Amino acid sequence: MSHAMPIPSTRFAGAIGVFDSGVGGLSVLRAIRAALPEEDLVYVADSGHAPYGDQTESHITQRTLTVGNWLAEQGVKAITIACNTATVVAARTLREQTHLPVVAIEPAIKPAVALTRSGVVGVLATRQTVQSESVARLCDTHGAGKRIVLQACPGWVELVEQADVHSARTEALVREFVAPVLAQGADTLVLGCTHYPFLRDTIARVAGPGVQLIDPAEAVARELVRRLGDQRRPAGAQPGTTQFFTTGDVAQTQHAVAHLWGAPAEVEALASG
Ligand code: DGL
Repeated sequence: MSHAMPIPSTRFAGAIGVFDSGVGGLSVLRAIRAALPEEDLVYVADSGHAPYGDQTESHITQRTLTVGNWLAEQGVKAITIACNTATVVAARTLREQTHLPVVAIEPAIKPAVALTRSGVVGVLATRQTVQSESVARLCDTHGAGKRIVLQACPGWVELVEQADVHSARTEALVREFVAPVLAQGADTLVLGCTHYPFLRDTIARVAGPGVQLIDPAEAVARELVRRLGDQRRPAGAQPGTTQFFTTGDVAQTQHAVAHLWGAPAEVEALASG
């Protein structure tokens, strides 16, 4: 019996692959689209296996490798992990297993520490992210002389997946996790999960005008530009395409993408592997 290697498809040859557990990574995708208008983008919402933040490390690693390998097989030239949880658990493993450049978002603790005046920074993220060794290391490396309050925010991802970002129910759940961080004196909040920028208006209203919110999506897009180097399509080439896939419910993802991406988009089903 022969064991031929699968022939890589070229449907997305030269595109940039971006993925998250769901639609949260669209907050990164929009920064990438703004920075790289000529590039073709392929986005995977791994909604059939979400939320990552409540799963085991081995599940998150297995999903990161499965989606990363699928993108590589499509011929992408770079992969962006638009999910803090996947980054802190599995970015290193994915980097070890692919020759492609991997750019990965992580909680923006360093810039937040530089900006705080009260000396207290809040990090809002998933359970897995706040418990991770990577975040402990970021706090050790950048947090000298400051207090860093790590706050898990269960339920926020599900609200964003339902595109429920402005309701009274959402505001109540935002208040439940932001209030204790503010009570400890935080004046700077890191949006440490890519779903949370879609709750930005609600978080800002709850936190009040004296509190800054930090989202590293634009820094990730800049890093991607840097990593592409001369593989970048020339400025002025025709506008790139954007393709969306989900491993979960197509209708639900379509609904969320329509609300959050701000432009009509077709979502295709991806067998969840
Ligand atoms: N958007 C992801 C992140 O940045 C995780 C959401 C989830 O728990 O699935 O952490």
